[in-house]
Amino acid sequence: SPQIVITGVASGIGKETAQLLSSRGYHVIGVDRAPVEDFAGTFIQGDLSDPTGVNQIADKIRETAPAGIDGLANIAGVPGTAPAEVVLNINVFGVRDLIQAVRPQLQRGSSIVNLASAVAYQWRADKAQLAEFALAADRQQAMTQALADDHIVGHSYLFSKQCVSLLSEYFAAEFVADGIRVNSVSPGPVETPILEDFKNDHGCDKVNSAATTLGRFGAPADIAQCIAYLLSPEAGWVNGTDLRVDGGLTAYRETAQF
Ligand code: NAI
Repeated sequence: SPQIVITGVASGIGKETAQLLSSRGYHVIGVDRAPVEDFAGTFIQGDLSDPTGVNQIADKIRETAPAGIDGLANIAGVPGTAPAEVVLNINVFGVRDLIQAVRPQLQRGSSIVNLASAVAYQWRADKAQLAEFALAADRQQAMTQALADDHIVGHSYLFSKQCVSLLSEYFAAEFVADGIRVNSVSPGPVETPILEDFKNDHGCDKVNSAATTLGRFGAPADIAQCIAYLLSPEAGWVNGTDLRVDGGLTAYRETAQF
């Protein structure tokens, strides 16, 4: 059966995606820093926030699937209520470094999906600035520079998720000749434990008004279905794009001005 690595499987969207893919016959290699009991597949406990942790996780993935893997879903992430350095380390470098670490394991025809966010559509940072941070060879120096920028620190979550979309395009281009696809998914507000953090970060009224406009918040399954599609061969010609899964929220907000 196809081997898929999924991060963030202890909670929310990652947990739901792992269950969905297991039920479809995939062997799921789940990763999280929080423990998981009775995981249907292979569970690896590890921390994606620093390079040592990422390398330990990649070693265990290699041991679990010596013949290679067929996909990777980078779902682990932290909300903007965490300190900016933590947000940038996990949401940006955790994603980038895990992709690079498992790159030799990814077989032709495999697919990578990274979780961005619909909030990243609220303003677009300069692509050159995103690339300078997200693709920096010297991670320490890039972090020092970013933490000195008040705009990045004040919008660390938005900035981190724009970096995720940029990294997805970047790796899609880099891996295209190897038959490995890379896309991002941008959810709107989904009912998981971090929705409370989003209310604190973006304003309770703003988040709640989204549910009023759309009739409800998103459910983890709404997002998991789209991640599963992008991981599957059915999405074989979908590459280097961002799939917004927000119930129409961004479209609603962007057209409100007309
Ligand atoms: P969640 O908080 O329910 O799950 C996140 C999981 O990631 C947790 O199990 C956590 O332990 C794990 N994790 C965090 N840092 C880690 C690290 N350093 N190493 C290993 N594991 C780590 O969150 P949720 O809602 O399921 O979010 C999943 C992804 O979707 C995140 O990237 C989030 O930013 C994104 N997203 C969520 C939205 C929402 O409204 N819930 C909206 C837009 C994007």
